[in-house]
Amino acid sequence: MNNSYFIRTFGCQMNDHDSETMAGLLENMGYCEADKPEGADVIIINTCSVRENAHNSFFGVLGQYKKLKEKNKALVIGVAGCMMQQDILVKQVKTKYPFVDFIFGTYNIHELPDLVQESKLLKKTNVRVLPERESIQEGLPVKRKYPFRALVDITYGCNNFCSYCIVPYTRGREVSRGPEDILSEVRNAVKSGTKEVMLLGQNVNSYEYGFSKLLGNLSQVEGLKRIRFMTSHPKDMTEDLIKAFSKYHNLSKHLHLPLQSGSDNVLSRMNRGYTKGKYLQLIKDIRREVPDIGIRTDIITGFPGESEEDFQETLNFVEEVQFDSAFTFIYSKREGTPAAACEDQVEESVKHERFQRLVKVVNESALSKNLSYIGKVEEVIIEGVSRKSNEYLEGRTDSFKLVNFKGPMEALGETVLVKITEANTFSLKGTLDL
Ligand code: SAH
Ligand code: SF4
Ligand code: F3S
Repeated sequence: MNNSYFIRTFGCQMNDHDSETMAGLLENMGYCEADKPEGADVIIINTCSVRENAHNSFFGVLGQYKKLKEKNKALVIGVAGCMMQQDILVKQVKTKYPFVDFIFGTYNIHELPDLVQESKLLKKTNVRVLPERESIQEGLPVKRKYPFRALVDITYGCNNFCSYCIVPYTRGREVSRGPEDILSEVRNAVKSGTKEVMLLGQNVNSYEYGFSKLLGNLSQVEGLKRIRFMTSHPKDMTEDLIKAFSKYHNLSKHLHLPLQSGSDNVLSRMNRGYTKGKYLQLIKDIRREVPDIGIRTDIITGFPGESEEDFQETLNFVEEVQFDSAFTFIYSKREGTPAAACEDQVEESVKHERFQRLVKVVNESALSKNLSYIGKVEEVIIEGVSRKSNEYLEGRTDSFKLVNFKGPMEALGETVLVKITEANTFSLKGTLDL
């Protein structure tokens, strides 16, 4: 039997995609994917620094893998990702978890094969962490998690320095991939069965060579059914991009547009570069152009100095905008960011209580948006068997809503028409419309 690998991924789509590259590199070395860490020969943990809970779960997982290593001395364990761009955490892993064979940073992914080879010879933790990106590595192998959906990086890093966020420190300054490299990756993915691309970047609409132009070029790739992107930043939304939704037939009617807060005071201290008035105007412009677009957002509760009035403004704003869905976060102090040094940190219990109130309002609008789909016939790309019940398949509408329905298992990756019959807060149910 072949040697096997297991990758545990925390964090965002960037990390999901980096893990796909790590999987590709390991498969090229002859390893095959294991479905659980127990029994694997190589285990990689791809970490995230963005919030406290990902940080804590990482140390929990490391503790579990330590036991696996005690049972199997030949097991190779590597740690990668954003946490490893922070010196203090590299030191902590080296001293407290010396069974880790190697550590590599977000700019060193291509060195994984060397690190695996060298781990067989070295006795101490091998560390390869560049402090800054030196170049963009093109042409690395990728093993896609979903064959019909390709995650494709278009920018790396971030220049925005939102005052709460660690990403600019773990992913470095923003750089853009060349349009030809992106196009050829997408063309190749489509040749091997991709129906949908998800363009990735911390702020895709600041893509150096023109984001709307890139969308225009990608929309012409034959056989590409859907194009999505995340994340776009409200301060860089252009009229061109809004128009692109009606101009390009395969640009999905779905937009992830993080709000973060509905208070101008908080937005300014977050260094977001827009006001709630500007954000609302954008929403109106987008909905005028594409009335049935699905809009998703990110919101943080309990940013330093957020008063009850500030929070109330966020609640009212969320109610006014009626998002299709939202990722809601409790503010988490990240060492090294400006907001972590603020003295007016909000008490833990207050942050949590606001979070609960926010979730309630967000869920109400999500349910009401979903209810409006009942009776409609939607194009759905089949993504697999439902995670909740194996009697059902699941897939997504063009507006990124999850739909469960009964249908043929062999049709994975195919587009079908589904008539929506039921709606919940987080998903829709329907029947095939034949
Ligand atoms: N580049 C993307 C987001 C990357 S992080 C953007 O600008 O939208 C994803 C989300 O995590 C952010 O939108 C924010 O809502 C949340 N987040 C980031 N740092 C956080 C922190 N310190 N505490 C709580 N939530 C945070
Ligand atoms: Fe973080 Fe702001 Fe950059 Fe997003 S835009 S990654 S929230 S600094
Ligand atoms: Fe986390 Fe790094 Fe993404 S900090 S959110 S994995 S860019």
